[in-house]
Amino acid sequence: MNTELKKYLNDKKKGIDEFIKEYFKTPVIPLILHESVVYSLTAGGKRIRPILCIASYEACNGNKNIIPYATAIEFIHTYSLIHDDLPAMDDDDLRRGKPTNHKVFGEGIAILAGDGLLTEAFRILSNPLYAKIKADTLLRVIYEISMAAGLRGMVAGQAYDLISEGKEPNGEIVEFIHLHKTAAMIRASVKTGALLAEASEDKIDRLESYGEAIGLAFQIVDDILDIESTTEEMGKPQGSDMQRGKMTYPRVYGIEKSRKKAKELVDKALETLSIFDEKAEPLRQIALYIVKRTS
Ligand code: IPE
Ligand code: IPE
Ligand code: MG
Ligand code: MG
Ligand code: MG
Repeated sequence: MNTELKKYLNDKKKGIDEFIKEYFKTPVIPLILHESVVYSLTAGGKRIRPILCIASYEACNGNKNIIPYATAIEFIHTYSLIHDDLPAMDDDDLRRGKPTNHKVFGEGIAILAGDGLLTEAFRILSNPLYAKIKADTLLRVIYEISMAAGLRGMVAGQAYDLISEGKEPNGEIVEFIHLHKTAAMIRASVKTGALLAEASEDKIDRLESYGEAIGLAFQIVDDILDIESTTEEMGKPQGSDMQRGKMTYPRVYGIEKSRKKAKELVDKALETLSIFDEKAEPLRQIALYIVKRTS
């Protein structure tokens, strides 16, 4: 990763981490629920979705502090990981380099921590006071994020992912799964930045296409890393997909074709950014990083 991007990501990550710390200064009761939520939120994720939201906002010349809204997206993402790891789903023991939430707090509290994070995100998104955002803008953001997270988005992808375990490899199905379980929230993260910046409809559309393309590439690379990386590097169990017979890109197309597909998606994403100036440089660099990442 180039040093400029590294600095950019670290900088943004710091702001997000500070907001999380501040947000939970007053503990939630019962304390076990508080600890469970804070445990997963602060376990050390890459924060790629909120950073994409901020980078998109900046590419559209936004200049307010939108960290709270971006972090709400990380709440939803973290909920999805807590539930994804449950025994009834992927049944994984390690996440972000630590034992999974249910391993530490039990399944009941892990389920509730996820429910709480999902709902709390909309509490933040519906508060215009964080950055004096117009109510109708926030309403549009809330619509986008609820579509991406819900029954027509991530949840549908996760359901298809589950019922496809052990099934015959199928290109149409794996595309549906990945577009929904992962690309939908990444697309919505990028689109949220553009909406908060009151960007033109053309810019919003372009950023949405960029988000969907890198979102799909992101999950293809996640599938490849499950085969090629290590547990230590990823902070989650290597080989989990193979063990569960998941419908992944490498399983359908093989590793080389999958890698090629991810690269093509990133090229396509970069093309859609052609009308943006140098303020979109972080978005360009993040797209390139997504196919090169090792964790
Ligand atoms: C993991 O997402 C789940 C997928 C959609 C592949 P990330 O790779 O962004 O995980 P964290 O947030 O950095 O832990
Ligand atoms: C999960 O996909 C996508 C989510 C919506 C959480 P995976 O099951 O491949 O994610 P990891 O590999 O456990 O992070
Ligand atoms: Mg899963
Ligand atoms: Mg999983
Ligand atoms: Mg995976």
